[in-house]
Amino acid sequence: MSAYSLTVNGGSYSVDVDDPTTPLLYILQENLKLNGPKFGCGLGQCGACTVLLDGQPIRSCITAISDSAGHQVTTIEGLGTLDNPHSIQQAFIDEQAMHCGYCLSGPVMYGYAYIQQNPKATRDQILQALSEPVAGQLLCRCHAHSRMLNALVRYSQGVA
Ligand code: FES
Ligand code: FES
Repeated sequence: MSAYSLTVNGGSYSVDVDDPTTPLLYILQENLKLNGPKFGCGLGQCGACTVLLDGQPIRSCITAISDSAGHQVTTIEGLGTLDNPHSIQQAFIDEQAMHCGYCLSGPVMYGYAYIQQNPKATRDQILQALSEPVAGQLLCRCHAHSRMLNALVRYSQGVA
């Protein structure tokens, strides 16, 4: 058993893990009781488990705890709250850009990171980013993709 330290949403944690290849997603859900990042495919293909690692979007289902230790992790819970949503979350609310909400960590966290690095990104630029192989691949079984794009454009243009 090994102990790993990591920072999640500004808080410091130490977790004891038998297997260093244990996915970060399992630690977030089971040890830290954070239910925002979801298990979708478990293969790095759908994006439902997306979190930020030092500001970069990663797929926590295929990121080992040993590769996460010592880094800053941000989950969707770290952006805003129900009472005080972040402006990107408000944009998703305003555009009604979700149905069941299961996949939301993907578009919200990936979109947040992209727009932080590309302020005022246009619809075409965001669409291009969402077309990037693997990194931009975000699957929504409710088929809310076009509304999610509207929400990201709204956030990017600062109208949220
Ligand atoms: S659950 Fe991680 S990419 Fe699908
Ligand atoms: S809103 Fe249901 S899977 Fe995306």
